[in-house]
Amino acid sequence: MAEKLYIVGLGGHARVVVALARSAGFEPAGFIDMQADQPGAQAHEAGFEISGVRIAGGLSALGHASAPNVAIAVGDNAARVRIASEIRAAVPGARFPALIHGTAKIERDARIAEGAQICIGAIVCAQASIGAFAIINSGAIIDHEDVIEEGAHVSPGARLAGRVRVGRCTHIGIGATIIERVTIGADSIVGGGSVVLTDVPANTTAVGVPVRHLPRKGPAAH
Ligand SMILES: CC(C)(COP(=O)(O)OP(=O)(O)OC[C@H]1O[C@@H](n2cnc3c(N)ncnc32)[C@H](O)[C@@H]1OP(=O)(O)O)[C@@H](O)C(=O)NCCC(=O)NCCS
Repeated sequence: MAEKLYIVGLGGHARVVVALARSAGFEPAGFIDMQADQPGAQAHEAGFEISGVRIAGGLSALGHASAPNVAIAVGDNAARVRIASEIRAAVPGARFPALIHGTAKIERDARIAEGAQICIGAIVCAQASIGAFAIINSGAIIDHEDVIEEGAHVSPGARLAGRVRVGRCTHIGIGATIIERVTIGADSIVGGGSVVLTDVPANTTAVGVPVRHLPRKGPAAH
């Protein structure tokens, strides 16, 4: 029988993760609403349901399960990593299995850390390393020896050549292309469709073909 998996998050990425979890061999047991246990929080939206999965409760619902499997289905990179720490502290037995879609192609010597999500049709090549709670979205290509650090998100259809490094919580936009050996710093954004030919520092938004660097407005947007 498939192992149960609780899904934290109720937004667009939660829809992706319900399907991903099923393809990866888990049975979604319900959504965890992190706000639900807060004093004064509004009652759960009674009819909330995605593809047959409903809200199980707040963080306290996780505490009732022994060694629950948990997926963090939150698109905001920094929030995804923070929520994982909060759950680890509140529910010491919680496990964060990597979710790998049945159609994804993962080379045998690639490394996939806990909580990583490898979505439909993604490709992860030889000796690549996917960090904890990173998302490799639909159809993205991660070439040989790439290092995708914790909490980073490589959007659908992005293509990374070999030996690229993507920093912690950085967002690579949809359809972006990054040539080999480029390093992109932490908490940066590469715009959708952009082409990166040289290193991008941390906390930088880079857009265009090839990229130019924009002044940052605030925290990384996802
Ligand atoms: C980069 C991005 C985050 C916007 O950043 P921003 O700081 O808010 O930038 P703005 O929208 O204010 O645009 C600033 C300038 O950059 C340009 N720009 C923004 N995104 C661009 C892109 N992807 N490619 C080329 N130019 C871009 C704008 O045209 C504007 O140019 P101008 O100053 O000459 O008028 C956004 O455009 C983007 O590409 N997001 C990726 C979305 C994505 O991947 N979604 C998939 C989720 S699964």
